[in-house]
Amino acid sequence: MSIAIALTKGRLEKETIKLLEKSGYGIESVKNKGRQLVFQDSQKDVQYFLVKANDCITYVQHGVADIGVVGKDTLLEGDKDYYEMLDLGIGKCKFIVAGLQGKSPFDKVGHVKIGTKYPNIAKKYFLAKGMDVELIKIDGSVELAPLLGLCDGIVDIMETGTTLKENGLVVFDTVCEISARVIVNKASFKLKRKEISQVLEDLKESLGENDVTTN
Ligand code: PRP
Repeated sequence: MSIAIALTKGRLEKETIKLLEKSGYGIESVKNKGRQLVFQDSQKDVQYFLVKANDCITYVQHGVADIGVVGKDTLLEGDKDYYEMLDLGIGKCKFIVAGLQGKSPFDKVGHVKIGTKYPNIAKKYFLAKGMDVELIKIDGSVELAPLLGLCDGIVDIMETGTTLKENGLVVFDTVCEISARVIVNKASFKLKRKEISQVLEDLKESLGENDVTTN
């Protein structure tokens, strides 16, 4: 049976393609893509499509994609109606709390405002800390918000730390570590178990891993 795999475009794209290639998949059409969005594997009965991270979950949950490759950041923030099967160990970064040097939101007395693209993750984090903060949803370039005084701190992704550094921001705490995960549609895992397990095995082999993670 044919398998459809939703790949997250952007940051994760190159590393995911490299990993699939290493695992014996004929993914050169994705590598050499122009504006094309749907691709056929040249060796196996696998179809790929490139989507934004949130859409990757949507396509998997609706069963249009049997498998999805997407960052744990997106999984933590969004719906959870799928199986999370494998940590690919690529696209590694962290969720951090950052702000202006010497102005930690943890030390502020009174009303604290936090800017983030990930309000669910931020809410859970501050609740666990027993802090009642106001969350301000920001869609991109979150680092700008404390610089302009919109908020006292941010919850955001840090990969190299360059964006924070170049904008004079510092890290006050780490929320959690993030990496790319493989998610699977629940019905597909029943109907196409053999094929899906094979993909997972192929990936695991090139990762040199034996364990399947589920959270
Ligand atoms: C992410 C994140 C930071 C940046 C961190 O943004 O929100 O802005 O990457 O990376 P660094 O630590 O390597 O500098 P992204 O580029 O995904 O775009 P966005 O600003 O639209 O969220």
